[in-house]
Amino acid sequence: MSTIVIVGSQWGDEGKGKITDFLGKDANIISRYQGGDNAGHTLDVDGKVYKLRLIPSGILYKDKVTVVGNGVVINPKTMIEELNSLKESGVDISNLKISDRAHVIFPYHIKEDQLQEEAKGDSKIGTTNRGIGPAYMDKASRIGIRIADMLNPEVFKNRLKETLDIKNKEFTDLYNSKPMNFDDIYHEYSQYADQIRNMVTDTSLLLNNAIDKNENILFEGAQGIMLDIDQGTYPYVTSSNPAAGVSIGAGVGPNKIDKVVGVVKAYTSRVGDGPFPTQLDDEIGDFIRENGHEYGTVTKRPRRVGWLDTVVLRHAFRVSGVTDIALNVLDVLTNLESLKICTSYELDGKEIDYYPATIDEIKRCKPIYKELPGWTEDITNIKDYNDLPENTKKYIETIEDLTGAKIATISVGPNRNQTILKNNVWKN
Ligand code: IMP
Repeated sequence: MSTIVIVGSQWGDEGKGKITDFLGKDANIISRYQGGDNAGHTLDVDGKVYKLRLIPSGILYKDKVTVVGNGVVINPKTMIEELNSLKESGVDISNLKISDRAHVIFPYHIKEDQLQEEAKGDSKIGTTNRGIGPAYMDKASRIGIRIADMLNPEVFKNRLKETLDIKNKEFTDLYNSKPMNFDDIYHEYSQYADQIRNMVTDTSLLLNNAIDKNENILFEGAQGIMLDIDQGTYPYVTSSNPAAGVSIGAGVGPNKIDKVVGVVKAYTSRVGDGPFPTQLDDEIGDFIRENGHEYGTVTKRPRRVGWLDTVVLRHAFRVSGVTDIALNVLDVLTNLESLKICTSYELDGKEIDYYPATIDEIKRCKPIYKELPGWTEDITNIKDYNDLPENTKKYIETIEDLTGAKIATISVGPNRNQTILKNNVWKN
């Protein structure tokens, strides 16, 4: 048996959904452990495109159990919409399990997200406006409402009253905004509770029982390590722990994790605000953005793009224990005359090879690059690593050298089949 965690190694949108789907075929269970419907996975399965925000991509395999763990913040409205759309596409959703301990996102969280961003003005985070931060805030403040609470009408009524009173005071007194109506939220969410009731369980128990039975489990991280609230570019981060949140967010001990696969986009992209040392604001950046369709799945915002940054990758791999790399969207770089990989930074005249803690320092960092020749050959149909052009292999091997991790898979196109397997992570 194996337990494998998949984490995004940059600022999210590395193509984790595709690799979860690819590695998922050998898993018995696929589980999410943090984040919420701020994530956005686009999956291309045999020409059919699925867009998922909250449900793990494993749902597309009918023989797998799919878990939404306790560390996820759940917007039940999004979840039900997503389930209905999957059902309409003929996907069997009966194997979905939802943690009884996961926290619920309410309309007041979304309103709070928006008001907080407006209040921050120029220092706004550029959130997805899904109420993620406020939901985690309530969890930490111990005024959050969990799925199990929502399933019990009396408990739910009392908890919602208490919390909504606090929120409404905040809306009226602090933000000079309108209060929200208790009955509307209570009735809407009671209906959601009834629709998901049969799927709710103690998912930590389920996962640990499966581990005891030697099953293969794939944990699917959302966002990316540089958006981690502890290890990312704070405050321009999300409010959960993509990096090492798996134990907390799935309820499995750290000694139960065998491997961590870091998903790496062959270049770098970032949506939202915050510093980005290798950002390209020129025609090469435009080429990568258009070729890579770099527009947010959730927000449709154009993503900022730049060269691959191995200072970021080394930081990301260290803080989350990445053992293997899933290298994605390599085909997007085809036809660039030469490619650059950032190896270190220059900060105030000194060369550094680590990622500084403060935004102020990161803003002053100038990337130091290694330049490599590009390739023009079409790589989208290549199935074997050895058939890749020499310059492509050189690019890949430079990433291995600069990060110390081994490449497991290389993605050369959006389809399930366009994945070169270099190293089977389930087997070694
Ligand atoms: P929040 O998670 O909506 O609070 O947003 C906080 C930051 O994380 C913003 O910069 C978002 O753009 C970014 N973010 C959140 N989820 C994702 C994701 O799935 N991919 C990329 N960026 C994300």
